[in-house]
Amino acid sequence: MPKRSVLAPTIMVIFGAGGDLAWRKLIPALYNLLLDGHLPEQFAIIGVARKNVESAGFRAKIRIGVDQFSRRGVIDESLWDRFAETISYVSEDLADPGSGIALNARLAEIEGMWGLRANRIYYLAIPPTTMEPAAAMLQRLGVCRDCSRDRLVVEKPFGRDLPSAQMLNRFLGNMFVESQIYRIDHYLGKETVQNILAFRFANSLYEPIWNRRYIDHVQITVAETVGVEERGDYYDHAGALRDMVQNHLLQILCLVAMEPPISFDADEIRNKKVDVLRALRPIKSEEIHRVAVRGQYRKGTIHGSPVPGYREEASVSAESATETYAAFTFHIDNWRWQGVPFYLRTGKRLPSKVSEVTIIFRSPPHQLFPSAAVESWQPNRIVIRIQPEEGIDTRIQVKQPGTRLLLGAADMQFRYSEAFKAPAPEAYETLLLDVIRGDATLFMRADQVECAWQVVTPILDAWEAVPPADFPDYPAGSWGPEAADLMLAREGHSWLHPAGREEA
Ligand code: BG6
Repeated sequence: MPKRSVLAPTIMVIFGAGGDLAWRKLIPALYNLLLDGHLPEQFAIIGVARKNVESAGFRAKIRIGVDQFSRRGVIDESLWDRFAETISYVSEDLADPGSGIALNARLAEIEGMWGLRANRIYYLAIPPTTMEPAAAMLQRLGVCRDCSRDRLVVEKPFGRDLPSAQMLNRFLGNMFVESQIYRIDHYLGKETVQNILAFRFANSLYEPIWNRRYIDHVQITVAETVGVEERGDYYDHAGALRDMVQNHLLQILCLVAMEPPISFDADEIRNKKVDVLRALRPIKSEEIHRVAVRGQYRKGTIHGSPVPGYREEASVSAESATETYAAFTFHIDNWRWQGVPFYLRTGKRLPSKVSEVTIIFRSPPHQLFPSAAVESWQPNRIVIRIQPEEGIDTRIQVKQPGTRLLLGAADMQFRYSEAFKAPAPEAYETLLLDVIRGDATLFMRADQVECAWQVVTPILDAWEAVPPADFPDYPAGSWGPEAADLMLAREGHSWLHPAGREEA
């Protein structure tokens, strides 16, 4: 990461500064960037929200968040003072057509103090319904006019289906140029997600076997133990497909399946990812029962403690038909991946928090060992562990020690924490620094977001047309509905339970 001296003076304006994202992720990430010396020498944060509070009150509140959520643990008093002096707060009501005056004045005040026009980053950490008024305000005030200096960061969810995402893209596109818009998907900032590119394209070992000739199928799992926490209101209108699949899971799939880019140029990488989304075979409504599974958790037990069912969660309808689990079989219609299923699944209230990609290889073309030697034979596999224990495992077959010829599986393990002693930055640290540097490689372009919606919108429509008859259908603390196991069993496969455990 470049050190602060090379970065231009920057003001980061956070809309939704009173919200959960700012409190848990954005402000702690900026704090860590400052301590690591990655922020520009001249840097300021302006929090914007409706509530009328003084800057001092805002700083006191976010301090509690940094204490709780910074990867460094409890704040050091002297370091906090350095950070706190960069922060101020202005109250703005986006619903008011005359809003923006206080923000404009604060921007002018900071730039007046610095004696220059700073780079400005406007971070929209606000619900989709308020994105348009916020963007319109920036346009009206003319504070975001300089395409080389001014950037807009848009949080997910970017729309709620293809038509709404297209509308939002058009709306933003009328006000800003594409290079100013940073659509964020925090999974792309995770170290191990970025490492998929390095693993595939910085090693000559894997690329020759990364195709239908050697790979049998691919599994992508993003499992969470948490329920909907305090986000019932948002989640009950979103569901797992919108909340996780349209963005995080499809982005991971793109990195696993994309063709080698010619360079590390942002657009080159994004073009290659869009190609994957365009090649995803559309799911037809008549086959949806075969290739898509949805589920909803009922009460159960997580890590030994009882937890309520989804319909009992705060702000969730008692008859909710929202899915908290989703699994799919996707096919990619191109030369590399023809006939290789990609199984994706994600869910809340599953037994462990784990995200990983498993590449399962074909059997050797000729089995020359006596059958007694290969009783416990398993195919080769590569597991890319995204979280919690970041690393890569390669499973191989070896001869077991002894006088008899008996094969057994062994794992070659690479762990980030063992190989590199330096602590890894959090996803939001990487992404915020990229915005400050003006590097859009890890952000989604308009066409990418639309292609992803194109994939999931027919599923959303089909699910909405036929409400689920059997919800809730999996107990909290289980690996999801049985239908997801059956989906793979029909093709002679089974989910590999994460973290090396074969059993559920
Ligand atoms: C967010 C989703 O994008 O990702 C949440 O809205 C989910 O529902 C979260 O819990 C998971 O992120 P992570 O980084 O904890 O895996």
